[in-house]
Amino acid sequence: MTTSHTNVGDTQVPAKMALTELAAMKRQGIPIAMVTAYDAAGGRLAEAAGMDVVLIGDSAAMVVLGHESTVPVTMDEMLFMTRAVASAVRRPLVVGDMPFGSYQVSDADAVRNAVRFIKEGRADTVKLEGAGRMLPRVRAIVESGIPVMGHLGLTPQSATALGGYKAQGRTAARARRMLADALALQEAGCYSLVLEAVPTPVAARITAALEIPTIGIGAGPRCDGQVLVYHDLVGITAPEFRPKFLKRYAEAGEAMRAAIAQYAAEVRAGRYPDEAHSFGMNADVLRRIESG
Ligand code: KIV
Repeated sequence: MTTSHTNVGDTQVPAKMALTELAAMKRQGIPIAMVTAYDAAGGRLAEAAGMDVVLIGDSAAMVVLGHESTVPVTMDEMLFMTRAVASAVRRPLVVGDMPFGSYQVSDADAVRNAVRFIKEGRADTVKLEGAGRMLPRVRAIVESGIPVMGHLGLTPQSATALGGYKAQGRTAARARRMLADALALQEAGCYSLVLEAVPTPVAARITAALEIPTIGIGAGPRCDGQVLVYHDLVGITAPEFRPKFLKRYAEAGEAMRAAIAQYAAEVRAGRYPDEAHSFGMNADVLRRIESG
């Protein structure tokens, strides 16, 4: 897929990924690449790596803020991170993940908080988890003019109710229920759907049944796109965190630890900063200072 550009003054900047382009990618069988980001540095890397979609996931609660689940992260924290990512991203679609409590209570709450993601966070669209009682929320947000990405399968905000962090849709009845929920989310106006921790054949069946693109995480290769959590894929989460679906594309955490350790060693040995990393001064000026 070629990237379109728009002119800003004399410079050509890549045009924002349009929802119609994402839909076209599904029709043309072009896989969609999505990654999470939580700050401007992550946004810049995602842009430079040519991502189609950047998600400010509520996984931030765990990988950035150190909580044990995604539940505690607040709207203000999510907006803070979303704005930072959006400031660094031109081409990829920026998706703000609605945190637990920001849309469950009422349609009015859901719309108000989705609007905050767009106005204050500078996101292009929002994502929320679940179907069933959440369908009116999706409709209300979409009717307010904000595109919604759905999320089915393992929905971490309700991990306790789902019996923990494990694959979903593993019985015929549950797989059928998930397909019905996916169709209902499409009908409610979602432009795309994340499928998390779903057996490959179930994700493939849902992907084939939907007109909107599916984005998988732990849902096998037959989704229309894939998403991974940035910290996991670059290897800066705990080395023992190795869910089956996760491929660590780098061990950046080890490279970063080694760099910090070398810095500490050089400070302690008096080798940093050396002359090359210090500011000098004009000799005449120095003489004048020293002569009082
Ligand atoms: O919060 C998140 O990072 C997510 C992705 C795993 C899809 O929801």
